[in-house]
Amino acid sequence: MVARPRSGYDRVPVHDPSRFRILVVDDDVDNQTYLRRLLNRHGYTDVATASGGGEVLDDIGRLDADLVLLDLHMPGRDGFDVLAELGQRLADNCFIPIVVLTSDPRPESRQRALQLGATDFLTRPFDHHELMARLRNLLDRRDVHRVLAEQVQLSESELRHAHAEMLVRLARAAEYRDDQTGRHTWRVGYLARLIAIEMSAERRFVDLLGLAARLHDVGKIGVPDRVLLKPGPLDPDEFAVMKQHTTIGARLLSGGHSPLTKLAETIALHHHEAWDGGGYPAGKSRDAIPLAGRIVAVADVFDALTHTRHYKDAWSIEDAIAEIRRQRGVKFDPDAVDAFDRVHANGGTTETAAPSDDQDEIARMAITASQPEPAKP
Ligand SMILES: [Fe+2]
Repeated sequence: MVARPRSGYDRVPVHDPSRFRILVVDDDVDNQTYLRRLLNRHGYTDVATASGGGEVLDDIGRLDADLVLLDLHMPGRDGFDVLAELGQRLADNCFIPIVVLTSDPRPESRQRALQLGATDFLTRPFDHHELMARLRNLLDRRDVHRVLAEQVQLSESELRHAHAEMLVRLARAAEYRDDQTGRHTWRVGYLARLIAIEMSAERRFVDLLGLAARLHDVGKIGVPDRVLLKPGPLDPDEFAVMKQHTTIGARLLSGGHSPLTKLAETIALHHHEAWDGGGYPAGKSRDAIPLAGRIVAVADVFDALTHTRHYKDAWSIEDAIAEIRRQRGVKFDPDAVDAFDRVHANGGTTETAAPSDDQDEIARMAITASQPEPAKP
């Protein structure tokens, strides 16, 4: 037997009247009492009341209800006012059924209420059984709506995770050609993140940087093997080809809409620029180089120096740190070097400091990366 695929409807709970809160809005206290008793008799024990539109609209917390029974004609702000304003105030993905209960039988009132967003319209005197059947249907609809909204939210978060994961795998694919352990990109991302924290960068930027920095060399995908894998130093022509990995990487990542892809593009393009303007591809200097590029430059060089490559042996940590300090204000942003020094003093540069490349970390950073960008001051 083939199992039926699960749908959102499978998760909709059975109808339990005591689970729902119903708000009765009516200026007539007798009507309020009557409806409360009727609802209670059918198991709807959580019933709130309001005596007018103003009471509902002034205290939006009252709308913590699953369904509203709304009278139309009330002193002050009437039912039409409530419908008009709620249509603007309630979020698009929020479905609160509003049932108009009125003694006004005029077709134009019915039409106007429905146009303003009333979900249903009943005139007095009404049939109890019909009212209860309609309420039940509407409350079930609200449950389905809520469950589907939760599922959409879940799918979006899965999509964000998949996006971050694919970017990380793209970084590994590029790295795999000249570092088959694939650990360089991970260590650079980790160290860049620590440097950014030391520079008091915003939390969101820090997490984005941790992922985006891993794509700094993604452009190596477009560098031919004879250059990328050449043992020993490159001649000037070969070096010119090698330099292109910055612009190739930026082109690969260009046109992205997510903050993560945009930051990765910036880093790919700028991680070989130098503080004094002597870097590449554009020869930018100082603050003209985006902060992410200045930070990744330090992390990338430190990690490259301290690890063996096919064209060089690994330097000792002490020699690599001396070189980073020597390039302070020359190749590197002095503030980034000072922050790097503090990271080193706190033990962040040791080989074992970087945690494993685990999925939880990607998921956590993907969530941060997906937060909306803060409004510009
Ligand atoms: Fe690079």
